[in-house]
Amino acid sequence: MLILALAVILPRQVPIEQRIDALLSKMTLQEKLGQMSQGGIPDPPDAKMLKLLREGRYGSLYGGASPETRIKIENAARQSRLGIPLILGADVIHGFNTGLPTPLGQAASFDPALVQICSRISAREASSVGIQWTFSPMMDIARDPRWGRMAEGYGEDPFLASAMAVATVKGYQGTSLKNADSLAACGKHYVGYGAAEAGRDYNSTWIPEGLLRDVYLKPFQACSEAGIASYMSAFNAINGVPATANPFTLKQVLRKEWGFDGMVVSDFDAVRELIPHGFAADGKDAARKSIMAGLDMEMISDEIWKYGPELVKSHQLDIKYINGAVRNILRTKFRLGLFDGRPQSATEIRPTTATMSASKKLAEESLVLLKNDKSILPLSKDIGKIAIIGPLADRPQDQLGSWANANEKDSVTPLAAIKAKLGDSRVLYAPAITVRWQKGWSYDQFLTDFLSNKDQSGFAEAVAAAQQADVVVVFLGEIQNISGEASSRSNLDLPGAQNELVDALAQTGKPIIGVVMAGRPLTMSAVTAKLSGLIYAWGPGSMAGPAIIDTLFGDSVPSGKLPVSFPRSVGQIPIYYDHLNTGRPILPDDSDHYTSRYLDLPNSPQYPFGFGLSYTTFEYWATHVKKVGEGFKVFAEVTNTGKTDAEEVVQLYTHRMAASVARPIRELKGFKRIHLKAGESQRVTFWLFRQDLAFWNQEMRFTAEPGELEAWIAPDSVSGTPAKFKLP
Ligand code: NOJ
Repeated sequence: MLILALAVILPRQVPIEQRIDALLSKMTLQEKLGQMSQGGIPDPPDAKMLKLLREGRYGSLYGGASPETRIKIENAARQSRLGIPLILGADVIHGFNTGLPTPLGQAASFDPALVQICSRISAREASSVGIQWTFSPMMDIARDPRWGRMAEGYGEDPFLASAMAVATVKGYQGTSLKNADSLAACGKHYVGYGAAEAGRDYNSTWIPEGLLRDVYLKPFQACSEAGIASYMSAFNAINGVPATANPFTLKQVLRKEWGFDGMVVSDFDAVRELIPHGFAADGKDAARKSIMAGLDMEMISDEIWKYGPELVKSHQLDIKYINGAVRNILRTKFRLGLFDGRPQSATEIRPTTATMSASKKLAEESLVLLKNDKSILPLSKDIGKIAIIGPLADRPQDQLGSWANANEKDSVTPLAAIKAKLGDSRVLYAPAITVRWQKGWSYDQFLTDFLSNKDQSGFAEAVAAAQQADVVVVFLGEIQNISGEASSRSNLDLPGAQNELVDALAQTGKPIIGVVMAGRPLTMSAVTAKLSGLIYAWGPGSMAGPAIIDTLFGDSVPSGKLPVSFPRSVGQIPIYYDHLNTGRPILPDDSDHYTSRYLDLPNSPQYPFGFGLSYTTFEYWATHVKKVGEGFKVFAEVTNTGKTDAEEVVQLYTHRMAASVARPIRELKGFKRIHLKAGESQRVTFWLFRQDLAFWNQEMRFTAEPGELEAWIAPDSVSGTPAKFKLP
């Protein structure tokens, strides 16, 4: 067998397409369909699986497994007739052994360079146990925080999400996919998954083509240009056509327009799900429709494997579609060096001081200071006693956020970190709310109990601690899987009795600082007035504790900005900053009844996209736009007017006054993280070219129509005074 395998796998000097031709010409239909199938890794691998692998039944396996298991299954696949190696995938979403902040938190850093460094760490650690392919980054634009998977992506804005996704891909894939420490990235969920109707996971989406192209496709396109190895087709239907069998997105856009030649795997079971979607009549129809639409590999369900032979034999499916899919898969495997003895680390790479400090830095940059009355923060280290309250102050697993791989034993919680900083005697701790687990409960019961648990029996201890303290820090929010897959919520208030907890603490009259760990924006208008300070921490990862505590005491200065708008109430959803103006925008003095507004709530979010305070203050001077050659130089002076050295994320927005298709009131076109010493000023410059100002017009052409525009250099998406300029 091995001799035959060697004969058809041409040496590495031969161009990849020729190597693929040689292999394809020898493959049976069964072997081709095997390549198009992805199964789950049984750990330890059973004899049945090893036998199937020797028969060429799978092109890929995925899931968590020990390095020994991975080696065993790889060897079994290599013993198959043609010796085609497996590609081993896993969900390495935000860190592997070193737990990084959730992607939404990473986006709040507005720091792609650091995100790239941290993704490199993930790749090094994950590849050290034999993982070759990660189902990440998720780049679904999400404008509805009811959708729990918002935590896994980069928020509401296509420009920011593109920058973050590209940085992540570069970090994973490194300088070459062939390196032992590179991971092939998989952009997901292609496409529109974040637009799930009513924020209900897996729900259908309705996205007009212009919006699809201007917003939802943008990060995917940016990653294609950056050389991403693969994509995952989404669960959802887009305008009635499921993404896993959608010829428009999979063929027209991805292959024809972008020239993508890597591979596309379906999401879990998504081929079979074409049946309940009401798109395929049965498994055979599902296999045919997904292959013809341009899908290459089926994850978990086995319709392609089962019905492929019959479809080809009956001429319902031309073999050219199967050959095309297998070609994409083999190309990806060749690119990873899987046929050429890809090197493999001998030992698992564990977290180190350096990786943990990178994770801490990213966590610090992701913290968004939303409120700081009378500069209560930073706290003085000379403070007497501090009360640490709340259900999330000491939850090593929950601080990792959803889809975490890291071991909770490597987590440093806020409680541990503050004790390390101040010593035990000055710290009073009371969780106040217990995260309950009862024998026999399903996981759903556990999660819904956390959401509805109104038990206040722990409040008295918490209030007593607060009364003895000089300041109270209350850790609120969501435990790990309250956000994430299949974790949609219709109510976005702090879960359970957390609002009541803040009420009870407020009655002590002590200053209260809230720290919220959550996968998504929560509606907190009921409690913000009672808090003197508020930090939004997302799912901060292994180093949540040191990052948050150093920030509370000013050893780190907050600089994160919101990657999503925070609604005042779920009634405002979907809410996002780059919306259209309408013909009847709300008037500045709200004097007209007949405008687009609510009777019972302002239109504005509680906290806008791009917003985040610092321990210092920044003054933004006038924005200037100068035409220079083919481009526009946009610049403004920014001054640190406070007493603390700090970083600031300076943002560039534009607006087009009139166009063949109405344009959003503002669109993010650039951002820069700058460092300013107290009193220091810096001129911040951005460049805009025609291409940056283009959009999909009425004829669905990507065009920069001539016209008048406005530009703001601003600290967030709502402030500043624009400068006008003209695009000829
Ligand atoms: C389903 C999820 O939607 C996807 O994001 C994930 O990568 C796959 N399952 C594999 O676990």
